[in-house]
Amino acid sequence: MTQVVLENVYKTFPRQRRDLDLTDSSSNQERSLPDRKASHQSAVTVLRRINLTVEAGEFMVLVGPSGCGKSTLLRLIAGLEPLTGGNIWVGDRLVNELPPKQRDIAMVFQSYALYPHMTVYDNLAFGLRRMQQVQRPTVKENGADLGDRNDQISFQWENFWESFRVAVTRWLPEGFQYLSETEKKIEQRVLTVARMLQIEMLLNRLPKQLSGGQKQRVALGRAMARNPQVFLMDEPLSNLDAKLRAETRAQIVNLQRQLGTTTIYVTHDQTEALTMGDRIAVMHQGQIQQIAAPLELYHHPINRFVAEFIGSPPMNFLNVRIKKTLVISHPQFRLTLPGIWEDTLIQYEGRLVTLGIRPEHLGLSLPAPKNLPVKVMRVEALGSETYLSVRMAGDTLQARVDPDRVIQPGEDLWLAIAPDKVHLFDAETGVAIYPHDC
Ligand SMILES: Nc1ncnc2c1ncn2[C@@H]1O[C@H](COP(=O)(O)OP(=O)(O)O)[C@@H](O)[C@H]1O
Ligand SMILES: [Mg+2]
Repeated sequence: MTQVVLENVYKTFPRQRRDLDLTDSSSNQERSLPDRKASHQSAVTVLRRINLTVEAGEFMVLVGPSGCGKSTLLRLIAGLEPLTGGNIWVGDRLVNELPPKQRDIAMVFQSYALYPHMTVYDNLAFGLRRMQQVQRPTVKENGADLGDRNDQISFQWENFWESFRVAVTRWLPEGFQYLSETEKKIEQRVLTVARMLQIEMLLNRLPKQLSGGQKQRVALGRAMARNPQVFLMDEPLSNLDAKLRAETRAQIVNLQRQLGTTTIYVTHDQTEALTMGDRIAVMHQGQIQQIAAPLELYHHPINRFVAEFIGSPPMNFLNVRIKKTLVISHPQFRLTLPGIWEDTLIQYEGRLVTLGIRPEHLGLSLPAPKNLPVKVMRVEALGSETYLSVRMAGDTLQARVDPDRVIQPGEDLWLAIAPDKVHLFDAETGVAIYPHDC
């Protein structure tokens, strides 16, 4: 099992003409030459100061909104993009300059990326056959390349001869087909993986004869067949319908547990992140905001971004003022917080802060100064739970309430905040404020 370490990783792309056009009103006119030169020189930084250690055998999820740099980071690890700065370690190898083939990493994409003209069997075997071709001439010991040019030529000839014999005898009945030792090993591996993924009956089909879920399993199988040190998965379930997504999610987690292969899994879906990851790294605008176990992120978000991104529906935010140390004041209510906040809130007395409360921590209640007078705008009754969208003066809030109570849009209600579930954030920086001994 292999650890993956990212040290201070930076990635900059040259700014595209397209990017400038979006921000520049004179874009329709022909650009002058010096202008164009400038556009080539300017650059966009899409990843900055990325420090991340993925432990050996860990299932790490990278989650963040679209465009925050997740795919770019995976591509850097896979070697599909050059680094702008920093280091990437796979085990004890610094792989910054290594081409993708030599990194021993397998990547699964959202688009499956299967070879359309090859059967499922050949798609699964492809990486293994290629590994044979790559490994032999480039066996290295203490950095010295053992395969000289003659070796490479004889290897290529051998390889050609093997492929020729396989191709010519393929059409004969089974007992007469030629299978080299290598090909026999490949067959074993392909069958093992196909069995694990339950795609044995699909081995002779072409990708166009498969459903989305089946294609996805073949793509996973292709990565698994190579038995790499690291799996990288970029939103592999996005093209599946909700039910299949949930099933495949569980299947991927189980397979990863069985194989114990270090995995970095990218998604923009916080539910996927919470249900799959041993740990989750939350990304925003090219930076990692917080790395923690799923429930740690939910209970102790480090800032307002993480608090809002993790949890569905998202946390509600209200601007409030800290009155006397433990009293929170809003034009519509006054709430007293539990005593553990006392030491922390002394320095905030009289100041504005942001109160955060999750929809599940707002409950139906009765008129009281500590409760929130709201008007119901929308009701989503799902049977097991009811979600309300309500307005209180200028604020809109979401609440998850008792499903047994029938509520109509337009109704006036009182909601109670659970005081021990309150989150507070610095109003300017968005950084979370926690009681000292929390
Ligand atoms: N080849 C590229 N050239 C220029 N900008 C790019 C390139 N690839 C990605 N970007 C930009 O980098 C940012 C992050 O993209 P990406 O890593 O695909 O985000 P995500 O996978 O989180 O949605 C985006 O703003 C995107 O436009
Ligand atoms: Mg992406």
